[in-house]
Order: sequence, then structure tokens, then C-alpha cells
Amino acid sequence: MSLSKKLGSIFTSETRNLSPKVEKWLVKKSAGEKAKTVDKSQTSTEITQPSTEITNASQSSKYPTLRERKMLKDGLTLQHFILKPQVLQLYKEILATIEWMDDPQAAKELRIWVRQEFERYRHEKDIQIMTNTTTSTPFILPIINLGLYLDDKNSTKAIEECKKTANALRDYGALLVKDPRVTEEDNARFLDLVEDYFAQPFDIKLQDARPEFGYQVGVTPEFTEEPKCKRDPHCQDVIAKIPVSNKPLEFVGPDPKWRFFWRIGGQPKQTKFPRLNADPVIPAAFKDEWPKTMDTWGAQMHQAVLGITEMASAGFGMDANTLPDMTKFGPHLLAPTASDLEKFGKVGTVLAGFHYDLNFLTIHGKSRFPGLNIWPRNGAEKIAVRVPDGHLLVQAGKQFEWLTGGEVMAGYHEVVVTEDTLKTIEKVKITRPDRPLWRISSTFFLHIASDELLRPLKPFKGDPIRYPPTLAGDQVKYELGLIELMKS
Ligand SMILES: [Fe+2]
Repeated sequence: MSLSKKLGSIFTSETRNLSPKVEKWLVKKSAGEKAKTVDKSQTSTEITQPSTEITNASQSSKYPTLRERKMLKDGLTLQHFILKPQVLQLYKEILATIEWMDDPQAAKELRIWVRQEFERYRHEKDIQIMTNTTTSTPFILPIINLGLYLDDKNSTKAIEECKKTANALRDYGALLVKDPRVTEEDNARFLDLVEDYFAQPFDIKLQDARPEFGYQVGVTPEFTEEPKCKRDPHCQDVIAKIPVSNKPLEFVGPDPKWRFFWRIGGQPKQTKFPRLNADPVIPAAFKDEWPKTMDTWGAQMHQAVLGITEMASAGFGMDANTLPDMTKFGPHLLAPTASDLEKFGKVGTVLAGFHYDLNFLTIHGKSRFPGLNIWPRNGAEKIAVRVPDGHLLVQAGKQFEWLTGGEVMAGYHEVVVTEDTLKTIEKVKITRPDRPLWRISSTFFLHIASDELLRPLKPFKGDPIRYPPTLAGDQVKYELGLIELMKS
């Protein structure tokens, strides 16, 4: 639910028991709405104290105010006129929503963070940056405690957590998971190795590419993987329906990100799709530590995402093993992506263009650099994902959508360089001056086994034309064709 919808539900609910703090805020808001006074002495275009002044002035007077005249004089465009009140409105909505958070300490921290964020952008005039950074709502996704399920699958708390898992996947196509078996140190060890690998010269890395296998093992060079959106009418339709202010950043051509694919899990004894099950590539300079580190982190990600798969299966009312069983011997991939922030560290750069994942579920450790935006249920709202330390991010892919007949949607997302990314780059230059400046996403793709049939499972009803019975291996081949990795 969007912030404005949340607020709407408060304002229209007369029977709701509001906390004294919220009531006080509503009274203040109501008084402010009635007053609608315009400060004629105000001549600055800066958002010094977020208020209703610009909005009210713009709406109530047919003549430009001093502030509006100053905006014109400064060469600001109609888009700035439209965006500035939106910024102020967003600020007010966020602060109002924080008022009714249960945890006072969390509310305090979030309030300080929001104020700092808006302060940072008060002089911003670049439309692209304004749109990207002010319309993607900072947001913490539902957090699933996998430990509760591991302790006792049949406990009331574990069952509730399973329902929460299903709801989060249905409502957001994404969730955060805390797996007690995975620590931030494990993630850091993996990230350090992958950073070192990608810091190698271009030609050395190219020796690890296997285009004949559609790059499904080894390295995928930068500017190879092309977001499928351009050739997918459905994706174009999704973008067309997103309001201008929340649209993904425009991207042209293939992504500047690199990737490394490392198979995790056993091979099927027999399969109709051997090309998706090729032998692994071990980089020469890292031959001693690469297999161990990749296998260790891959196994951790695999067991964490299998836990979520099991919980989702139970949460949706299926046998807990239904979905995990379908992933057995699937062509799972540990697939870290890597973006060179020395080369592509400019705000507004699209590192991974708007797309959904073709597999079943994707899980990531926390990246050292922010920049991921998601669109829950592929709707109008863009969310900038924040992952707390020690947590993992899970996103639903196309195979999940297929098996649930669209109850869970493959979530569209993008990775872009934001002001936050830049801020982190500056910090890293000070705190880790000897480390390569690469943004690594420690991604793991969980797949349905290639020879399993994708079709809506009970209890889901799905459109048989949109989700026809299809072997998972065929679906993957089709999708890879769309993203230019496999020519067949
Ligand atoms: Fe993705």
C-alpha cells in the first residue's frame, strides 16, 4: 500500500482508535489546510523548511508568487514546478506515517534519516535525479525470521511466519529474510573475493567466458546482457502504465554490468536440457579459493532460499515440500553481478535496466552499494530497497508467477547509480581505500528443475493462455533468447 493510501485510510476511518500523537498531528494538519496562507516575503526556491506553501500558492492564485517568479528566473522548467510540490507532499506523508509506527526508537531513527535525505536534495535541479531519488520511497520490506521455522515448523509462530512469507511474495514480490545460519561476515568474505576477481584486467576475465553455453557458466562480460524489455510487449505495457514520476530510468542497449555464473547443487541424471547443465569455470588466478568460497556461499544461499520456498509453499496452503521438490536438480546459479563504479559511478547510470528474473526465486546478500529499485506487483509505486545488515533479500521470478497463476508476480526491478550510491562510494574511498570500487550483488538464482512442467498449481487458478503448460527448460531457453545470452 502506498504512503498516500495509508494516510487516506486514516483520514477516512472515523471508527479507528488513533493515538493521541496522530490525533494531534491531524488537528494540526486540518488547521493548516484551513489557513492556507502564503508567505509573500519568501523569495528562495530552496526547500528550507518543507511546508505547504508552494502547493497552496500554486493552487490558490492565478498569478505567480514571488517564489514562482524566482523559479522562472532561475531557469527551472514546468517539470520542476510539478516535482517540487510532490517532494513536499512526499516529505509530509512520510513524517505523518512515521508518527504511527509502533517502535519509537525505529521511528526516531527513520525520522532523522528522512530529514537528512531531504536536506541533501534541497539544491537539486536535475530532473532525472529528482525523479529517481524522490519518487522511489525508501522502504523496509517485510522481514521473515527463518529461525522460527527452523526451530519448530509446527509452532504457531512458524505458521504465522509462513503466511507472512506468502503475503509478502504476493504483495511485494520480494521480502527480507534473517537466516541465523548466515552472517554478514560470510557475505563479506564472498564479496571480497568477487571484488578481487572483477578488478582483474578485461582480457584475463574474458578467458572465463563461455558464449557457446549462453554464458550460463563462467563470466558474462559487460554490455552483453540486454534487458529484454525492449522486445517484450508486456514489459512495454508495464512501463506505459507507470506514472512518469515513477518510471524506470531510461536505458539504451545492453547493461554495463558483468556477471559470473557458478552452478550450485547436483546435476540431473537425465535431462532434455544438457546445455543448461555445463561444467563450471574456475578462474586461473583464484583456482585455490574460488571453488570453496563459491560453494560455501552458494550452499548458504541455497539453503536459505529453500527455507523461504518451503515456508511459501506452506503459507499458500500447499504441502511444504511441493515447491522445494520442484527445484531439486534445477540449474541453480550463484551469479554475482559486478559494476565498475570507477567507470560507471555517475548518478543516473543504469547498471541493470528494468527487468524481471526468469527463474523461480532470487536471493541476494546485502550489496555494499545501494541502488536497487523495485515495483511491487509491477504497479505504479517505485521502492528503493534498503537491506539491513545480516539480512538477505529474496525476489520472485517468472517461474513463481507461472506456478501461482499470477498470484505472485515476477517483480520488475532496476539497479541504478543514485546519490546514495555516490555517498557510499565516498565513504568506501575513506574506510577501504585499497579495495576495488566494484558494486557486487551476491545473487543466487533458484530454478525449477528443467524437466519439470510449469503450470498453475492447486490452489491457484491461472489463465491457461497466459500460463500454458511449459517445461521449465523451454521457458528458460525462451527467456535467454530474449535477453541475448543464448543464440539458438
Ligand atoms: Fe534481476
